Amino acid sequence: MSKSLVSITDLSKDEILHILDVAAEFEKNREQSFLEGKVVASLFFEPSTRTRLSFEAAINRLGARVIGFPDNKNTSQSKGETLEDTIKIVSNYVDLIVMRHPMEGAAKIASEVSPVPVVNAGDGANQHPTQTLLDLYAIQKTQGTLDGLTINMVGDLRYGRTVHSLSQAMSAFDSKFIFTAPEELRMPRKYLHELEGKGIPYIETEDLDAHLRDCDILYMTRVQQERFPSKEDYDRVKDTYILKADMLQGVRDNMKVLHPLPRINEVSTDVDSTHYAYYFEQAGGGLYVRMAVISYLLGYR
Ligand code: CP
Repeated sequence: MSKSLVSITDLSKDEILHILDVAAEFEKNREQSFLEGKVVASLFFEPSTRTRLSFEAAINRLGARVIGFPDNKNTSQSKGETLEDTIKIVSNYVDLIVMRHPMEGAAKIASEVSPVPVVNAGDGANQHPTQTLLDLYAIQKTQGTLDGLTINMVGDLRYGRTVHSLSQAMSAFDSKFIFTAPEELRMPRKYLHELEGKGIPYIETEDLDAHLRDCDILYMTRVQQERFPSKEDYDRVKDTYILKADMLQGVRDNMKVLHPLPRINEVSTDVDSTHYAYYFEQAGGGLYVRMAVISYLLGYR
């Protein structure tokens, strides 16, 4: 079975650093065409702007072709076909599958029945490993290193898959963590236990202002409305944290605000023009990182 990227833990620290190096090469020259003749499937069972379009741009920039769908309304899943059967069929046609799905564990299921690599482009509230790689790319670029940093993750740490993958990845780089969330949206115990097992320090807090000045990376997240059991539950916490420019007085000069995007209101637009904002550049790096992931999994870099 070929190598898939289902969880960020599928990659060693050396593999992560290699992918980031290749992404930097591609950023210097993005007109690559060494995948001419390859076909990649882009299967999005859940909405996306950045991930799907940057993957599809990456596939095109590498010289490969792309097939797929941006939602599953017009696929045979609407007739009741299982995910396993869909993947078994699509994998006959392509060299690699990129898939986003609302169900936790969907990417693992797909990777187990696919003879070609599967890249998890987000599975429910579980994992988003290529987002993590582009987060690391942004962190490395802005801080000059991945080592010894303090990262403050803010917002929906329960349902936000990006913070799950990112905490696992950053734990390989001697990081310290601040988890800022209301009680209902705390980081799941599973990820806290992993950090404890590795002796990595973290604190949990509900107070955003108290720790804004203690971090190198402020990683803001959207409250994931689509994963809440009811609108009332969502409404209770949706406006818990709203970062405004005047709250950034006294933060570390090197501090950058990251966000996987899309944002709703958790980062006010007046933050955009401060030198702390890096979320749009962060998303831009996704193209190069995804070019590097595809190249690596297909054995080209
Ligand atoms: N960050 C992210 O996954 O964005 P999209 O949902 O737009 O792909």
